[in-house]
Amino acid sequence: KMRSVVRGTGSHLPDRVLTNAELSGMVDTTDEWIVQRTGIRERRIAAEGERTSDLAFAAATAALADAGLEARDIDVILVATATPDYTFPATAVIVQDRLGLHSGAAFDLQAVCSGFVFGIANADALIRSGQAHRVLVIGAETFSRILDWEDRTTCVLFGDGAGAIVLEGQEQDGAKTDRGVLATRLRSDGGHLHKLYVDGGPSSTQTVGHLRMEGREVFRHAVGLVSDVIDGALADAGAAAVEIDWFVPHQANKRIIDATARKFGWPDEKVVITVDRHGNTSAASIPLALDTARRDGRIREGDLVMLEAMGGGFTWGAALVRW
Ligand code: ACO
Repeated sequence: KMRSVVRGTGSHLPDRVLTNAELSGMVDTTDEWIVQRTGIRERRIAAEGERTSDLAFAAATAALADAGLEARDIDVILVATATPDYTFPATAVIVQDRLGLHSGAAFDLQAVCSGFVFGIANADALIRSGQAHRVLVIGAETFSRILDWEDRTTCVLFGDGAGAIVLEGQEQDGAKTDRGVLATRLRSDGGHLHKLYVDGGPSSTQTVGHLRMEGREVFRHAVGLVSDVIDGALADAGAAAVEIDWFVPHQANKRIIDATARKFGWPDEKVVITVDRHGNTSAASIPLALDTARRDGRIREGDLVMLEAMGGGFTWGAALVRW
């Protein structure tokens, strides 16, 4: 049975750290409020001129090195981003060119904070259908560029960064212990558009726009929606919550993460948290967290890992992966 197995991971953060203390000099907020409500202590901000493709390229290079592969070994590059360099072409083709790759296919995928989970599901489908052998899935964002830096209710929440993963088709024997992507569940409901969106775009205002969010409304829906898709992914794989070794959720808010983990009985030791240092990096947050937990020795071969995200749209999804 063909499975999409993880060959390597990589990530990249801009150098510039923006602390809560600094933010409290920019808008009417405090370190205490931000930490208590979100768990965020600091986030990274891309330098002037530093683009989403720069972060994506650095994460991709790290993932290829980790996998022991060259760019030419990749068939498809998929970049999940809501903050592309240009309206078009896709940021993925910019990364493709910088990797010196002029074969295969590259495209962007837009599912905001759920983009990486949607990317994993699409990469897995390309691999299992035989259309690609290796797919480089990148989540990369520069949300600092679309924030309203005078709006304290949103500007304290987000950061910039990128993470990447290489998936490779490998024959597995169909056992429950198979490595690779075991199940994915994707959902969306456009009825929630105005709870979390950017108020600009080529065909509406011809501006880039700024992120707008009804934070309390997003919070109210988050745990229930992601719990549904986690349940679905577990059911599809015939797995139980107690079998999960690592819970690697989208890093938006520590309270949402804690509430979800509690619901499934996952103790703090099994939950990977990076939101304290990265803030919410949208589609980049899961691959950044995965790469962190893999490089520090937590996630090892054979571990069962649950990924989950929810974001603008709303979109939401889960992916169950045996490392
Ligand atoms: N500093 C100080 N006070 C603030 C700040 C701030 N940065 N932001 C808001 N406040 C104030 C509000 O004005 C409000 O004051 P008021 O009572 O005088 O009106 C008070 O704090 C409480 O505001 P709430 O919005 O009710 O605060 P809440 O406890 O809901 O926390 C938060 C806000 C952190 C945004 C929370 O709702 C949340 O985490 N929501 C989910 C948001 C999220 O995770 N979005 C991303 C998910 S999808 C994606 O990743 C794109």
